Amino acid sequence: METSQIIPLVIIAIIGILTLIFLIPGLTGAPYVPTLKKSVELALTKLYPIKKGDLLIDLGAGDGVVLYTATKHGAKALGIEINPILTLIAKWRFRKNKKITMKCRNFYHCHFPKETTVVYAFAVSIHIEKIRRKIEDEVTRLDKPIYFISNAFNLKDLKPLKQLDTFYLYKIGPAKK
Ligand SMILES: C[S@@+](CC[C@H](N)C(=O)[O-])C[C@H]1O[C@@H](n2cnc3c(N)ncnc32)[C@H](O)[C@@H]1O
Repeated sequence: METSQIIPLVIIAIIGILTLIFLIPGLTGAPYVPTLKKSVELALTKLYPIKKGDLLIDLGAGDGVVLYTATKHGAKALGIEINPILTLIAKWRFRKNKKITMKCRNFYHCHFPKETTVVYAFAVSIHIEKIRRKIEDEVTRLDKPIYFISNAFNLKDLKPLKQLDTFYLYKIGPAKK
């Protein structure tokens, strides 16, 4: 095969791989669409005033905009992201920020640290109840309530403590024994 035939194949292969990396997460949580900086700021000041002592987990952290905003207000932040490219970008962007930890994992397979106080997710509606069950399992394992901020979608049969703009704030407690 000549070089002129190989180059288009390589380009098609790269585009195919990138498309898969960015689209597959849509099947498990949501494809990559970042929350607007202004909106995150609103959610973490007016809906849930985040502070020193909080540990926020962003389930599907994207490029880390939510993590960064949480740390600006003194909290620690853990991002769990399935897309290795986005994980690398966030790790590079926030390499000097000691309050941010970024993991390239499927969040359904991760245990939350015991210091977790608040979980954030910007998912699509079909996954929101599965994410809720994941949070309930972790809250029961840790035996303490955790706040949950959902961007764009509300939970069935659970009244939010507050609602602001596109955000819903819930408090999820351990299952009764
Ligand atoms: C709508 S974006 C939100 C990004 C970020 N949280 C924000 O608000 O700017 C959803 C992210 O979740 C990631 N994602 C989807 N399913 C996932 C899973 N099972 N585990 C980890 N990350 C996941 C996607 O790759 C995508 O970056």
